[in-house]
Amino acid sequence: MTVGIPIRRLWPEPSTLPLDDAALTTLYGRADRPHLRVNFVASLDGAVSVDGYSAGLSGEPDKRIFGLLRMLCDALVVAAGTLRHEGYRAVRLDERRRAWRREHGLAEYPTLVVVSGSLDLDPAQAAFADAPVRPVVLTHADAHPPPGLTDVADVLRCGTDRVDLTAGLDELRRRGLSQLLCEGGPQLLGALTAADLVDELCLTVAPLLAGPGPGRITAGDATPPRQLPLRHVLAADDGVLMLRHARD
Ligand SMILES: NC(=O)c1ccc[n+]([C@@H]2O[C@H](COP(=O)([O-])OP(=O)(O)OC[C@H]3O[C@@H](n4cnc5c(N)ncnc54)[C@H](OP(=O)(O)O)[C@@H]3O)[C@@H](O)[C@H]2O)c1
Repeated sequence: MTVGIPIRRLWPEPSTLPLDDAALTTLYGRADRPHLRVNFVASLDGAVSVDGYSAGLSGEPDKRIFGLLRMLCDALVVAAGTLRHEGYRAVRLDERRRAWRREHGLAEYPTLVVVSGSLDLDPAQAAFADAPVRPVVLTHADAHPPPGLTDVADVLRCGTDRVDLTAGLDELRRRGLSQLLCEGGPQLLGALTAADLVDELCLTVAPLLAGPGPGRITAGDATPPRQLPLRHVLAADDGVLMLRHARD
């Protein structure tokens, strides 16, 4: 891979040496137990989007970590809102990352898991129609799938009239999907926080003030504060910070 903007470690053990992909892979790694990692990008003033999309916050270093975290996970969990709004495509990894997964005994691609209460999903969306691995839709017992959805995805029902995320994540783990990466969005992070399911947050801080208007990376009902200790701080040469917080 052509490495663009250098990324260096600021904390702990600051280093002026740019981190290559092997070093970044070691820094982020896979946990030795079931683990839910959440990955977001935000502006300095806490915005989750610019003009409604995360793209305005994300540059090459963030995309590099985004891809690396996808390589490391068993399943990529995303809320239906973000899937629809951001127009998710099928999860793809380049040959180098697929080779890394094969060498580490993983499936070539992570499984896409879409969380939806309404099942207002389009089976023709590329995330489903072109998926290299059959996606899972996590929903509840009362939800009715649109025509064609069960042709392209497994529908997993946890909870009677709302999604029981704790039971859902347990079931994913029972299916061998132990290392979960959640790419948002805010309502899903709020619900995962409420259920105390977040083991790790990787947060890219983009060096810009987005101004008032956009929401935060979390949304929904108030929850008790949860401690999430700092594990590392990386900085890219374009001024982007990459924080990793995780519980013990
Ligand atoms: N900066 C970043 O890193 C980042 C990352 C992701 C998203 N975003 C931004 O966030 C915005 C989208 O946010 P959003 O408000 O739509 O929130 P969201 O969490 O992406 O999506 C909300 C929808 O997802 C489903 N969902 C989420 N949590 C659920 C739960 N606990 N149980 C059942 N279903 C659940 C529901 O879908 P149904 O309606 O199908 O029931 C709900 O309506 C976009 O602007 C996107 O660009 C930014």
